[in-house]
Amino acid sequence: MEKLSQLYEGKAKKVFKTEDPELLIVSYKDDATAFNGLKKGTITGKGVINNKMSNRLMQRLEKAGVPTHFVEELNDRETLVKKVEIVPLEVIIRNIAAGSFSKNYGVPEGTEFLSPTIEFSYKNDELGDPLCNSYHAVALGLCTRDEIEIIKDYAFKVNDFLKSFWEECGVILVDFKIEFGRLSDGTIVLADEISPDTCRLWDSKTHEKLDKDRFRRDLGGVEDAYNEIMSRLEKNIESK
Ligand code: TMP
Repeated sequence: MEKLSQLYEGKAKKVFKTEDPELLIVSYKDDATAFNGLKKGTITGKGVINNKMSNRLMQRLEKAGVPTHFVEELNDRETLVKKVEIVPLEVIIRNIAAGSFSKNYGVPEGTEFLSPTIEFSYKNDELGDPLCNSYHAVALGLCTRDEIEIIKDYAFKVNDFLKSFWEECGVILVDFKIEFGRLSDGTIVLADEISPDTCRLWDSKTHEKLDKDRFRRDLGGVEDAYNEIMSRLEKNIESK
């Protein structure tokens, strides 16, 4: 399948049309941003890692009962995906306090929750992706009540799968952000990506950060962290 015209360029990916109106090609960039685009940089090799990691995880999630947009990996940076209309919600699941949760609720980073939390933010860069709840989402017409229930159910399934997958890699899944979309027939599927850009992943023993927080917080060793987390994923997959 060939790339036709570019449909969209986001902060980390480009999206192209194909000859099939139901299929798109996503191309992952090495560009990194944080704080709603205020901080900009490059993480060399990130596009390749995020493409492959997201695809490996989505293929497994399909088997675990979560439908996704994944169709076929075309090359190191490009993947054929089903065309979706993105539900403009960032769906965030947390197992351990960190980042904005720690700041907003005064809970020290690393505090384990008794049970996972879910939160939504309205995807709108101009407004800074404000937090919203399921009633706001339905009231604003971002999704229906039925859709939000499906999204919640899939999000916790994704958490169950990812938590145990990363545990096998010696990694703690602290939190993550996912997005969903609607196929042309209205079916809700997992879309966007699952990568070190969108998850907090800590080494189980040392709690060393192996994700984009190294870039957000200027901790150094950004590329090394992305390579380390990818090699742990590949070792785990090979061992099966
Ligand atoms: P937060 O603690 O900053 O709210 O982030 C929660 C999780 O969501 C964390 O794993 C990073 C991810 N995330 C994104 O993928 N995109 C974003 O724009 C933000 C703010 C967070």
